[in-house]
Amino acid sequence: MKKLTKEKYGEWALITGASSGIGREMARIIAQKGISTILVARDKEALEALSLEIEKTSKVETKVIVTDLGKEEEVYDVISACKELEVGLLVNCAGYALSGEFTDNALEDELDMLSVNVKAPLMLTHHLAKAMKERQRGGIVFLSSIMALAGAAKWANYNATKAHNLLLAEGIGEELKKDNINVIAVISGSVDSGFQERSHTQSALGSMRPETVAKYSLWMLQCKRTYIPGMMNKLIALSLRTAPRFVGTKIFSNVVNKLTSQGA
Ligand SMILES: NC(=O)c1ccc[n+]([C@@H]2O[C@H](COP(=O)([O-])OP(=O)(O)OC[C@H]3O[C@@H](n4cnc5c(N)ncnc54)[C@H](OP(=O)(O)O)[C@@H]3O)[C@@H](O)[C@H]2O)c1
Repeated sequence: MKKLTKEKYGEWALITGASSGIGREMARIIAQKGISTILVARDKEALEALSLEIEKTSKVETKVIVTDLGKEEEVYDVISACKELEVGLLVNCAGYALSGEFTDNALEDELDMLSVNVKAPLMLTHHLAKAMKERQRGGIVFLSSIMALAGAAKWANYNATKAHNLLLAEGIGEELKKDNINVIAVISGSVDSGFQERSHTQSALGSMRPETVAKYSLWMLQCKRTYIPGMMNKLIALSLRTAPRFVGTKIFSNVVNKLTSQGA
């Protein structure tokens, strides 16, 4: 991760979902590389604890923004708070899965997940990428999921949000490469984090550690547009490429069904 530097990306990184899991690990690594961090999530206590830890262990500044990214006006508040800062690295990590059959879930809950997983990263990226373009440098990370590769019953909308993350990253990555801006979509498999508790699921077999996913994803930012952490996940993605789509949906639906019934 030689080139994850202030010189390459700029003074500040904004990390959503920094209170837990992959986002927290990304924030730690980015700070260790000498880039100041803006930590965004709802859990004030967790963000403040991370901020203290980072300022103690890395010689960088931190800012804590306690925000519900499901609320459009609060996303605009985050954008305003970044106005005077040179944010050269954006990590779109905040996200969660709403489990259950689509028509059984409340529409507001499905819309909230859409806002957190899709609308917030889209808004932040739209705003911050413009400034990166002017500076002709930057990096953007999207936490997609292996679940983006096929639909699944009981996670229909979640998988669709992750497919949006993936395709948006691929498209804007292609647009922004001429501006010296690296964009990566991390197609992560199961990771042991706060995710399982929030989505009422169990970890899948072969779950990875958040620090491993964070480290290798940042490592790959300058080399790849899409990155699949872990050999097993790579093999799953490869086999889905040649299988008819309904097979992927069957397999993923079975997996989600198993994980959600164990987690309920
Ligand atoms: N864990 C997995 O198995 C897995 C697999 C593939 C992809 N992913 C993706 O990886 C990303 C990170 O997940 P994780 O595994 O690190 O899970 P996690 O430990 O549950 O972390 C999720 C983060 O998102 C934040 N968040 C959730 N709702 C929010 C809201 N309304 N406003 C602001 N922040 C919000 C949480 O903070 P607060 O609660 O403090 O707001 C937390 O910091 C997610 O996008 C997820 O879809 C995870």
